[in-house]
Amino acid sequence: MSKLTSRLALAATAMAFAGLTTTQLMAHGDVTPQAVDTSALPDIGEEWLGENPYTGNAKAIEIGASAYNQNCARCHGLEGISGGIAPDLRYLELGPSGDEWFIERYRNGSSHDGKVYMPPFGEVLGQKAGWAIRSWVETKYTDE
Ligand code: HEC
Repeated sequence: MSKLTSRLALAATAMAFAGLTTTQLMAHGDVTPQAVDTSALPDIGEEWLGENPYTGNAKAIEIGASAYNQNCARCHGLEGISGGIAPDLRYLELGPSGDEWFIERYRNGSSHDGKVYMPPFGEVLGQKAGWAIRSWVETKYTDE
């Protein structure tokens, strides 16, 4: 192969790859998840945890606040105060059972009767971002 042909082949492969990624992102519908930079948070492994490892972690709360605003607020409301189209997350129980329910919804979303009520976020944003958002939600908790 000449230098030029191999260059062209490389470019074609790169383009095919880019095309694939776009289609995968589009498959999630018109809601484009916003990437969350969680590199400042301690690693927690690949295995999904059932309890929040970042509760009270100031950095996690800060990252979670911004991730929430970009990915969740349009349905769950600014500051977690719901306008009614999705549950008000301030009422979500604190502690392990609240954690478990939170991460279940975050990972898998919610669909019934063939309709998507909430898209899944687990694969697109990852576990660290999920627990960061949970840490922020905990700071908004109210039982009133
Ligand atoms: C497209 C709108 C939409 C977006 C975006 C969305 N949600 Fe939801 N969410 C919903 C709806 C609707 C429900 C209720 C689903 C049901 O009851 O079947 C829900 C339920 C939940 C629940 C369970 C609450 C309860 O009291 O049972 C949690 C936790 C949750 N969402 C977290 C999140 C987080 C975290 C994000 C952002 C990463 C997010 N959601 C983004 C619409 C959305």
